[in-house]
Amino acid sequence: SQGSETPNEPTPPAGKKIVLGFAQVGAESGWRTANTESIKEAAAAAGIELKFSDAQQKQENQIKAIRSFIQQKVDVIAFSPVVESGWETVLQEAKEAGIPVILTDRAIDSEDESLYVSFIGSDFVEEGRRAGRWLLEQFKDATEPVNIVELQGTTGSAPAIDRKAGFEEVIKENPNLKIIASQTGDFTRAKGKEVMQSFLQAHKDIDVLYAHNDDMGLGAIQAIEAAGLVPGKDIIIITVDAVRDGMQAAADGKINFIVECNPLLGPQLMDAVKAVVEGKEVPKRIVTEEGTFTSEEAKAALPDRKY
Ligand code: AHR
Repeated sequence: SQGSETPNEPTPPAGKKIVLGFAQVGAESGWRTANTESIKEAAAAAGIELKFSDAQQKQENQIKAIRSFIQQKVDVIAFSPVVESGWETVLQEAKEAGIPVILTDRAIDSEDESLYVSFIGSDFVEEGRRAGRWLLEQFKDATEPVNIVELQGTTGSAPAIDRKAGFEEVIKENPNLKIIASQTGDFTRAKGKEVMQSFLQAHKDIDVLYAHNDDMGLGAIQAIEAAGLVPGKDIIIITVDAVRDGMQAAADGKINFIVECNPLLGPQLMDAVKAVVEGKEVPKRIVTEEGTFTSEEAKAALPDRKY
């Protein structure tokens, strides 16, 4: 048969490179840098032409980038939504243009699942629960209040909302565990430091810091040390991500526990892009596998850590 009308025939036709438009959140953290590198490397390895845009943590920039990808008639659009809400209009435009959209890393809160073909990324609620479970175990015999401060990720982002929810769900089992202050540090080291400084000024009795990513935790460590306290001892520190700098701080005993969030989504994304272009079925949800690290485990894993 000629094959030109078979539904499975790849568009674009054989020989022409698949063009992927990717709208990245920004370069706010070590995690994000590793994620961007993974996507660029995997696209090159898969022979996919990548149009890459950095939104500098602004939703309006991401929306502009997606509109520009639509105009350029890319084959597939992928993006990591900086915040959860406000995507319907632009995704509807992509849908009307017949361009499939893949979400990576972060989800959107729309009920219209026809706006995207797949969501590849972590289970952020579970990450928050893992942080909570470790803390619950550490303080299972506590008879006095344990004062927790929380550095949240970017306001309105899926990881900030979900990591908070998962953590709270678990720690409420022990009424001694109390979040006494919670504020955004926008996933950056500089903001993490600044907010931790203000926490330390306002509260003399902080027992635990829960930071939604390593970078904020690392910034907070600077503030804790500047206040004459010992991170990991005077204040127990839990973070999320497990990027190299975080793992180093854990190996040094400054971070007590890290919940892993895997940034290496590039290969899975390229597989999904190819499958979508070839008209194959792609799972609606692809969950990334990840673990956790105590200081000892971080020390052991560090030599082989790629990012
Ligand atoms: O969406 C994933 C989160 O975004 C990472 O945990 C954080 O470091 C990044 O900025």
